[in-house]
Amino acid sequence: MKIIRTTHAIRHETTTARASGRMVALVPTMGCLHEGHLSLIRRARKLVGAKGAVVVTIFVNKTQFGVSEDFGRYPRALKRDTALCRGLGVDIVFAPSDEAIYTVRHSTFVVESRLAKLMEGASRPTHFRGVMTVVAKLFNLVQPHAAVFGAKDWQQAVVIRQITGDLNFPVRVVIAPTIREHDGLAMSSRNEHLSPAERAQSTVLYEIIRAARAA
Ligand code: PAF
Repeated sequence: MKIIRTTHAIRHETTTARASGRMVALVPTMGCLHEGHLSLIRRARKLVGAKGAVVVTIFVNKTQFGVSEDFGRYPRALKRDTALCRGLGVDIVFAPSDEAIYTVRHSTFVVESRLAKLMEGASRPTHFRGVMTVVAKLFNLVQPHAAVFGAKDWQQAVVIRQITGDLNFPVRVVIAPTIREHDGLAMSSRNEHLSPAERAQSTVLYEIIRAARAA
């Protein structure tokens, strides 16, 4: 497994993989990997087969955090993450620095102007702009045949599908099912911020979804 830090090197690796006839699948993450991410990586492997290249990106993307949000506190565990990736047979981990992705002169953003204004976009007005910008950059750098995202972040996945079509990226966007803890809480890197009391309350979300479905 290669661990790559620069945009030049990732472009070179995946261009070479494609040129030799390998399928390339991308799994973008912000790291602190859990079973939900691992299920996306397994799905990516299924998509490209044993000979294909699975690329996992680990990058805490500051532009998708609002000014008073938890960018500084977001959990980071690169050593553990790379070990998990190696265990799953990932071919490349792309873990760039902030400066590699956002150079000092960076001034271009991707804005989806309809779906991204609703729901989470209403309370986090710059969030989807940051996500779409980094996803577009990763699509351009890695040039994957397919990219796998979790259904947990459903609005994110739908907006990514929208920009992929609108901007004519030749990438198949695959949305993989949410993976849950035994009591129903969706797995998320941020769950580790929950206090024991909040963790106990959090299952109400899944109970509500089930009740709504049953009704
Ligand atoms: O879902 C995430 O972890 C992030 O929003 C993504 C897609 C990796 C972009 O930073």
